[in-house]
Amino acid sequence: MNAVSVLPESSGQAERYERYMEVVRARATSREFDGGYVVPREHYEMIVEAARHAPSGADAQPWHYIVVTDPAHKELLAGHFVRERYRRIELGMKFPSPNYRGMATAPGLIVVVADFRYIKAFPVLGDGSDLDQMYQQNAERILLQSVAASTMAAHLAAAALGYAVWWVTAIGQQEAQQALRPLLDVPEELSPIDIMCFGPPRRHPYKRWKKQLDEIMSWERYDRAKCPTDAQIDEWIEHDRARVMYRDESRTD
Ligand SMILES: Cc1cc2nc3c(=O)[nH]c(=O)nc-3n(C[C@H](O)[C@H](O)[C@H](O)COP(=O)(O)O)c2cc1C
Repeated sequence: MNAVSVLPESSGQAERYERYMEVVRARATSREFDGGYVVPREHYEMIVEAARHAPSGADAQPWHYIVVTDPAHKELLAGHFVRERYRRIELGMKFPSPNYRGMATAPGLIVVVADFRYIKAFPVLGDGSDLDQMYQQNAERILLQSVAASTMAAHLAAAALGYAVWWVTAIGQQEAQQALRPLLDVPEELSPIDIMCFGPPRRHPYKRWKKQLDEIMSWERYDRAKCPTDAQIDEWIEHDRARVMYRDESRTD
């Protein structure tokens, strides 16, 4: 029997792809927002509804989304990240840390919570052996990728609603999580791992530098000519990273 195509010409696939890509291309990070704007309640629901449909390892859906609207809580969250930024500077980390003040005025703020207990739902031995460690590490990766897939769906939904977005992972460290848990009443078993801010941006966000399609794609086998050397990566971190994080892709200075 011949395979039946589920996408006949008339299905409008090109148009649908273009509409999708419009959202994908328009998604952009902003770290300052119009603080006076109020996100309608249904927009939070529309955004988390998109997150709900994401794929996940074993379909475990190891995520939860906490909508934070209380300005005092946003202020406390922002304060934590601002302090963390100064600590990184004091520790001599060369990472070009952004100013997290803008988090306090983000009209939309959603905390992404991961449930690492679902690691057990993935292939693990559970006997504490070396082999188990190897499987555990991979299971953790499966869990993190699952939460990222769901978070990305939420970001694209926010972009589709016309908002600028801001993906913050600086919350990752154990210490930060301990500090934030009581504020949001997150149970011990769960980990608030990301914050998603969104809203009308204070200034029009710029399109950041993206690698060209050809640079990130191979056919059939990895094209080794495209594999950067360690020195090239160090050079990129040293000279380009801050530029691509904070400047318009069209600027070359
Ligand atoms: C997994 C992940 C972690 C990120 N963590 C942070 C963060 O902690 N703080 C921050 O200001 N931006 C963070 N970002 C935003 C990136 O800096 C931003 O996406 C990148 O510079 C590209 O810009 P664009 O989103 O406008 O394409 C993160 C993005 C991702 C996907």
